[in-house]
Amino acid sequence: MTMPTPRCPNQMQVHSIRQETADVWTLELITQDVYPYLPGQYALVSIRSSHTTLRAYTISSSPGLSRFITLTVRHQPNGEGSTWLTHEIKPGNTLWLSDAQGEFTCANKADSHYLMLAGGCGITPIMSMSRWLLAKRPHSDLIVFYNVRTPPDVVFAEEWQRLTERYPTRLTLYLMAENGATEGCLSGRISSQLLNEKVADISQRTVMTCGPAAYMAEVEKIGLAMGVPAERFHKEQFHTAAECVSADEPRINLMIHSLNKTGSAPVGTSLLFAMEQNSVPVIAACRSGVCGSCKTKIVKGYYTTTSQMTLTNDEIAQGYVLACSCRLDGDVELA
Ligand code: FES
Repeated sequence: MTMPTPRCPNQMQVHSIRQETADVWTLELITQDVYPYLPGQYALVSIRSSHTTLRAYTISSSPGLSRFITLTVRHQPNGEGSTWLTHEIKPGNTLWLSDAQGEFTCANKADSHYLMLAGGCGITPIMSMSRWLLAKRPHSDLIVFYNVRTPPDVVFAEEWQRLTERYPTRLTLYLMAENGATEGCLSGRISSQLLNEKVADISQRTVMTCGPAAYMAEVEKIGLAMGVPAERFHKEQFHTAAECVSADEPRINLMIHSLNKTGSAPVGTSLLFAMEQNSVPVIAACRSGVCGSCKTKIVKGYYTTTSQMTLTNDEIAQGYVLACSCRLDGDVELA
């Protein structure tokens, strides 16, 4: 019998687990209570009902449309949360979720024309929002670019097919594969030339993107250069701190002086993820820059922070960061 934790009070029972691709699974959850959420939001999951080990996953279902609340999770070989959810949890088991959170949603926008840009497992909030917009906003018009490494990596392949057949005039889907593109798939990466060609009205659209940090940075640069106003360009930040990193990202070096240890991590990922991947001890609870438990001192290096909420000015001056809210832009050395 598992118990709720303060940050994850919502009990869910696993109804079924569906494998989407070689390394992605969808967990279908049932709750006895009402669980309000908006399309595109995420929830923290208490891993093994722990009070301190929490992981954030996008809710891939859509409110008012989906039979189950679903979490779609990519298995990371050294990821404690994703290994538990994809390889150990069974139908009938209990999960504890936080309330839904996050600002990355289309539900509070009056816009009707969207350009959705997804890379890898960043497709989860994009699917949640696309499904919801097409069903609930009859005037919505969506262009979706979905970049994967190879065609078999496409998540929700059958549902995308169904949606394009059901909404042929309102949904245009471009699947893009970096390697081995087959019929119906564009080859390579997204570029300004491609967007110019396929999305003539890009500056009139609201752009929402989710994927590896480097991918989002690239499409943001392209989008803004093509006239998308900054206030209509939205990206899901938590994914850069979560377990959604392409193995193809260039890597940076880590040096941990106290352990006399070196390691590496994909550029653009969070310091917290990099520490966990390299077995560097770190405590993390909220994973969203609120609790302060992941405070870490950087001696030197290249990084940007998204939250310093619990740090004093003195600590910031000394190089302390919240590892969960610190994006690695280049090599770093930890105390
Ligand atoms: S884990 Fe809570 S601030 Fe980083």
